[in-house]
Amino acid sequence: RSGIYRRCRSCATITAMNTPKATSMEQLISLCKRRGFIYQGSEIYGGLAGTWDYGPLGVALKRNIQNAWWKMFVTSREDMYGVDAAIIMNPNVWKASGHVAGFSDPLVECTKCKRRFRADHLDNVTTCPECGGTLGESRQFNMMFKTSVGALETEDSTAYLRPETAQGMFVNFKNVVDSFYPDLPFGLAQQGKAFRNEISPRDFVFRSREFEQMEIEYFVDPRDEELVGKVFDELFDEQMKFLSTLGISKDNIHKIEVPESDRAHYSKRSIDTEYDFPFGQKELLGLAYRTDYDLNAHIKGSGEDLSYFDEEKKERFVPHCIEPTFGIDRLILAVLSESYKVEGEGDEARVFLAFPPALAPVKVCVSPLLKNKIELVEKAQGLFSSLKKRFGAVAWDDNGNVGKRYRRQDEIGTPFCVVVDFDTLGEPSAQAGNPELLDTVTVRHRDTGEQERVAIGDLEKYIEERIK
Ligand code: GAP
Repeated sequence: RSGIYRRCRSCATITAMNTPKATSMEQLISLCKRRGFIYQGSEIYGGLAGTWDYGPLGVALKRNIQNAWWKMFVTSREDMYGVDAAIIMNPNVWKASGHVAGFSDPLVECTKCKRRFRADHLDNVTTCPECGGTLGESRQFNMMFKTSVGALETEDSTAYLRPETAQGMFVNFKNVVDSFYPDLPFGLAQQGKAFRNEISPRDFVFRSREFEQMEIEYFVDPRDEELVGKVFDELFDEQMKFLSTLGISKDNIHKIEVPESDRAHYSKRSIDTEYDFPFGQKELLGLAYRTDYDLNAHIKGSGEDLSYFDEEKKERFVPHCIEPTFGIDRLILAVLSESYKVEGEGDEARVFLAFPPALAPVKVCVSPLLKNKIELVEKAQGLFSSLKKRFGAVAWDDNGNVGKRYRRQDEIGTPFCVVVDFDTLGEPSAQAGNPELLDTVTVRHRDTGEQERVAIGDLEKYIEERIK
């Protein structure tokens, strides 16, 4: 059964909870800022359009997604090789790849307020959507950020910040083949920053000027067309499997076969995977059959031989490439949007992030029932230290009452709250005190609010099994 359910503790009736998707971007953006997931870039200076900073919880969520991806696509496979190429590459890379000539978006400028817009994002390309002024002619605007390498700023010192991680893999194709002699098919994988001078960055981290990608360039033998088609389908299935491990529901995903007129210049076939973001259905990730376009472009541009030698058939050829590409920031936005749940209404409403436990930035929060009872605090601190040593992502909270602590942890998606109480001490008290519960703690579950009693000796195993 998918969804979130609550079981009544007395009559055991199971009811589905009111868990709509985040209804607005404002809710998500506000939670992200308030709880330390994502802040506006350079905020104290008024920000910088199209840039975002990840706070302590955001960076933990991002790393968990990156690590899950690396494990699934690189370390658990035998046909993948990781690389981490430089962000600033020889400018000839971008001339050869076609980015200098063609990596551009259509731009229109308002003759009155001088604001700039992407022509293909406007319904009316003659009138300014901000001030009603007249829009000028559309012209192509190259999205690569330019920089200058070395002490002198000349035409020859111009370099670019990479607009995709992909080229870092194509230029290392020969290096990896020469060091590892991989059999085809095999892939190169990379995670890292990419930069695009977007004309109109928008929708939080969805379209920014500095973002992160996780890409694979998977090389195949083009002489076996059936195999190429099979690999393409398999890589698409793997993309869907990865989305499912992130807790993204199939109902919110749409597979779009991109028509030729909309495909990138290098692609013979592309599938975009779109997601129902709070602001509409938009591209989350992509899959493209780049053929031998890039390797051939770099053979021409560099003069190097980037062909592959088939030992068995004693033939040399240029492999074709299939590229699954993921934008990390868009995945984070999809995960946040998917996980955002509200139970109840008005002042009673409980907001929680139902992250899959493996992605949660904090796995467990430990508290003493009362802050001023030294025996409870000492016992809880001992437990906190051992859990911290074991799992790392463990929080301590002794502020306010237990209900408030649960609410705080719910909002950041902590799957388990552990409370040390009088029963843990085996000490009869007004709060109850059952000697049989000595050395057990309350474990409270984020999604259902259910609580159960777990022996301290079993706690690490209990958590370990549930955060995989
Ligand atoms: N190497 C192929 C490539 O870069 P792309 O469709 O231009 O293809 C790949 O970008 C992915 O990068 C997108 O599916 C998206 O997830 C992410 N992406 C692209 N532009 C972005 C931006 N301005 N802000 C955030 N993510 C972006």
